[in-house]
Amino acid sequence: MSAQVNSPAARLASRSYVALVHHPVYDKQHQVVSTSVTNLDIHDIARSCSTYGVAGYYVVHPVAAQRQLVERILGYWNEGPGQSQNDFRREALSYVRVVPSMDEAIDAIQREHGQRPSVIGTSARPTGPAVSAPALRAEFAATARPLLLVMGTGWGLTNEFMSSVDRVLEPIQGTAPYNHLSVRSATAIILDRLFAEEAGT
Ligand SMILES: C[S@@+](CC[C@H](N)C(=O)[O-])C[C@H]1O[C@@H](n2cnc3c(N)ncnc32)[C@H](O)[C@@H]1O
Repeated sequence: MSAQVNSPAARLASRSYVALVHHPVYDKQHQVVSTSVTNLDIHDIARSCSTYGVAGYYVVHPVAAQRQLVERILGYWNEGPGQSQNDFRREALSYVRVVPSMDEAIDAIQREHGQRPSVIGTSARPTGPAVSAPALRAEFAATARPLLLVMGTGWGLTNEFMSSVDRVLEPIQGTAPYNHLSVRSATAIILDRLFAEEAGT
């Protein structure tokens, strides 16, 4: 066990969660839709969550058949033929929890920690007053409150959803005009900004 485990950043990570939301999100025409789950999002975000020691990764989908698909993928690696193939993948996938709604994720975290998580929305586009990663980290490192970082799919979380969250994280700003990170890359960058040792606190 490394010394990092007891740092303020590691303690904050250990009560933080990621939610990958498939509804309500926009499609290319700005219609509100449910997107399909993707294998890569399940695996890659689980690996990022494991790497930064977050407490759990919620895959949120309102459609039962899509949730069953995720459970089947998890079953393959946790109990099926995949179990003996790749221990690191299996370890990462143990972080994944499949729920039909954000409310269920929030309730589960509240039961676990005895208090409601602060729900943090993310978006590539500015959606109003936002908090920087260092400010969010400093604020919550000083509390015992859990965090729930919400990532979108499709063309991003709806404006209505974004206006319902407790805080909005400042968009990641690269160094070029291109602004189309995959959700997997955006999650990894955000986890690094919030929980990496060199980020401060
Ligand atoms: C809109 S989805 C794009 C999904 C896409 N189909 C894919 O391949 O991943 C990307 C999600 O990642 C996050 N994201 C992407 N770019 C971001 C940025 N510049 N700042 C903050 N979050 C970002 C947001 O949660 C956003 O909803």
